[in-house]
Amino acid sequence: MQMRKLHPEIGAEIIGVTMADVAANDDIYRAVRAAFEEYSVLLFRKQPISDETQVAYSSKFGPLETAKAASLGEGTPFSILTNIDPVTKALVPPGHKEDLRAKANQLWHTDSSFRALPALASVLSARTIPGEGGETEFVSQRASWNRLSPALKEKLSNCYAWHSYAHSRGKIDPTLASQRERDTLPPACWRMRWRNPVNGRDALYIASHTGAIEGIDQGEALKLIDELLAISTEPGHAYTHVWEPGDVLMWDNRASLHRGRPWPGNKPRYMIRTTISCTKDDGLAGVRPPQ
Ligand code: OGA
Ligand code: MN
Repeated sequence: MQMRKLHPEIGAEIIGVTMADVAANDDIYRAVRAAFEEYSVLLFRKQPISDETQVAYSSKFGPLETAKAASLGEGTPFSILTNIDPVTKALVPPGHKEDLRAKANQLWHTDSSFRALPALASVLSARTIPGEGGETEFVSQRASWNRLSPALKEKLSNCYAWHSYAHSRGKIDPTLASQRERDTLPPACWRMRWRNPVNGRDALYIASHTGAIEGIDQGEALKLIDELLAISTEPGHAYTHVWEPGDVLMWDNRASLHRGRPWPGNKPRYMIRTTISCTKDDGLAGVRPPQ
């Protein structure tokens, strides 16, 4: 197995082993797991990907999430991100729910921070790519943490923030999160510094989903969240992934932010994500402290 760095701050391509090899061999899994802990984003190219291989690979890393209520793939391990209408197979028009969801994915975020158990990792495979636009971008939240002042690091180490699906969807359209989604996904509260249990490295844990901070006035909290997102996404720090057929990306949701990029609405894009839940071994950032 060889590795090639994708960006000075984040990411490595894994060369010489396939995802099926990882699923089948514990030594290969351990090497890839170490690369995941180190680089936060892993790229596999030219994979003969199937749903079965994606699940077998992802399951090595931990328990899989089931796709959210009211999403394409609900109740299965597959979250489907697409502009193809599942019933008519036509491309969805602007303003369609899947179009608005794609727009919400274009806000910098980390996956499932609003769940009762956040996501350790996401595995996204390209099934149909638009040939133009539709890139996925990543920043290292370890690098972001390191750019904060000592005083801010000290403060955020003991701050707990609320993450809500309705909050991020509301930035796109106030009706995008339905009542069923709101009922099944109540907000969750996590420490704003996530320390990796394997290497002790700290990461800033915020997202488009973050809408409040314990003990901080709401107006001030929103301002601080915006300032932190601006620091994380300062120009020059992002790795932009230009998808090719057969590409699969995996990322560490504890230590990175990502966002999709727009693509022309007349071009189909079909991506399948499997998502690995945190367990207590993943340095889970801790729930809201007692009041
Ligand atoms: C995701 C996501 C962005 C994209 O799969 O979690 O945010 O480019 N994807 O599709
Ligand atoms: Mn995402």
